[in-house]
Amino acid sequence: MIEFRKYLHQWLRWKKGRENTGYEQLLLFINPFVIPFNCWLLRFPAGSHIPPHRDTLRSGRHFRLNVIVKRSPSGGEFVCANPILQTRRLNFFRSDLSTHSVTPVVGGSRYVISIGWLLPPERKRRKKSTLNRATKARSQGRSETS
Ligand SMILES: [Fe+2]
Repeated sequence: MIEFRKYLHQWLRWKKGRENTGYEQLLLFINPFVIPFNCWLLRFPAGSHIPPHRDTLRSGRHFRLNVIVKRSPSGGEFVCANPILQTRRLNFFRSDLSTHSVTPVVGGSRYVISIGWLLPPERKRRKKSTLNRATKARSQGRSETS
């Protein structure tokens, strides 16, 4: 996510979308602390689209919930390889892992509220057999590595 000062400068100002393919975004709010998240209003004029992409991160997990406020008369379909939840109006997905796109918007604008948040990388779980060995070793009064 972009740093907080940059967000303040962008607050409530329309700017071109990141992929520069015709859509625009307006920052509604942001929280850079604890669980960083942001909320944008996205405007897709007729002819705009978003090509397939993933929003890669240096580390962590990027979740995004898109709420379609106004559908376009035609086109403007959200396409996602592995959505967590997808309905006519809601799209919930991992934007860092799942390739996503928007088909060309036809006949009128499309509006979306997009809420994204970052979580730390998922901790790797120890294998059950390793845990059982460690528990057994402790009960016998020796260390796990012995
Ligand atoms: Fe994206």
